[in-house]
Amino acid sequence: VDADPSRIVVCGGVAEVLALVARVLRARGARRLGVENPSHRSTRGLLAHHGMDVVAIEVDEHGIDVDALAAAAPDAVLVTPAHQFPTGVVLSAGRRAELAAWVRRTGAYVIEDDYDAEYRYDRLPIGAVQGLAPEHVIHAHSVSKTLAPGLRLGWAVLPSHLAAEVAAEKALSDLGTPVLEQLTLAAFLARGELDRHLRQTRPLYRRRRDALLHGLPGLPAAGAAAGLHALVGLPPGSDESQVAAAAATNEVAVEPLGPHDMTGDHEPALILGYSRLSEPALIEAAKRLRAALAG
Ligand SMILES: Cc1ncc(COP(=O)(O)O)c(C=O)c1O
Repeated sequence: VDADPSRIVVCGGVAEVLALVARVLRARGARRLGVENPSHRSTRGLLAHHGMDVVAIEVDEHGIDVDALAAAAPDAVLVTPAHQFPTGVVLSAGRRAELAAWVRRTGAYVIEDDYDAEYRYDRLPIGAVQGLAPEHVIHAHSVSKTLAPGLRLGWAVLPSHLAAEVAAEKALSDLGTPVLEQLTLAAFLARGELDRHLRQTRPLYRRRRDALLHGLPGLPAAGAAAGLHALVGLPPGSDESQVAAAAATNEVAVEPLGPHDMTGDHEPALILGYSRLSEPALIEAAKRLRAALAG
């Protein structure tokens, strides 16, 4: 990431970056926003709430379809390149180059939601799209996945011509992010504590992922090489909502893919988060989920 301090606006997580950026882009006349399909229903709901018309662009095994994006010609696009939510696909090198070429050609913006890029297990780190086109990419990141979502602390790395406008929008909205939390995080970073924390939690989350997936033999897991969730396919013909409801009656919380899919055209699947449970708890959860499937 090309993260010169003059480009950075600290705010309350990726969610607030999206809200501020939507308002600034709307004020500049932007209206149509491409989003990956499937994508997180909350993030696209938030952008719609702040005035953007959301257009679904399909994702395949290489990430967002840039030809379809160019054909839809939105003013901006929200993407999750490091670990697509919820499929876990990595935006391929070719698609990254195409996306960077598209924004340079059209003057549109990429909003890069980098929500869980610090966690990867079986693959190398991937460069941010922002580094390819810093004047066209709004990069959003937070400590929600690395430390705690309740901290509500994140940042935007902005094209230089947008930084002052986004900072002004932030000031008009709440006069700024609490300073005590920022100073605490700064000290934490300066002491190398975040790096230490990541070194400790990467193998921990990897073991948790393995515990969960080993407990679900025969169910294909996608996107599990990185991040804190896996997309697990169910046998053809399963009703994903019914399976999730049956699991819930046994105190296992899983999310069906359906609400995140704008076109409703997908094989049945569940989104399984594994970061907060111990290995024994995940083994038990997998057992109960299998029972829910069998029932
Ligand atoms: C894909 C994705 N983007 C963004 C967010 C919001 O992140 P934040 O807590 O930084 O606002 C989440 C939260 O879970 C997420 O899953």
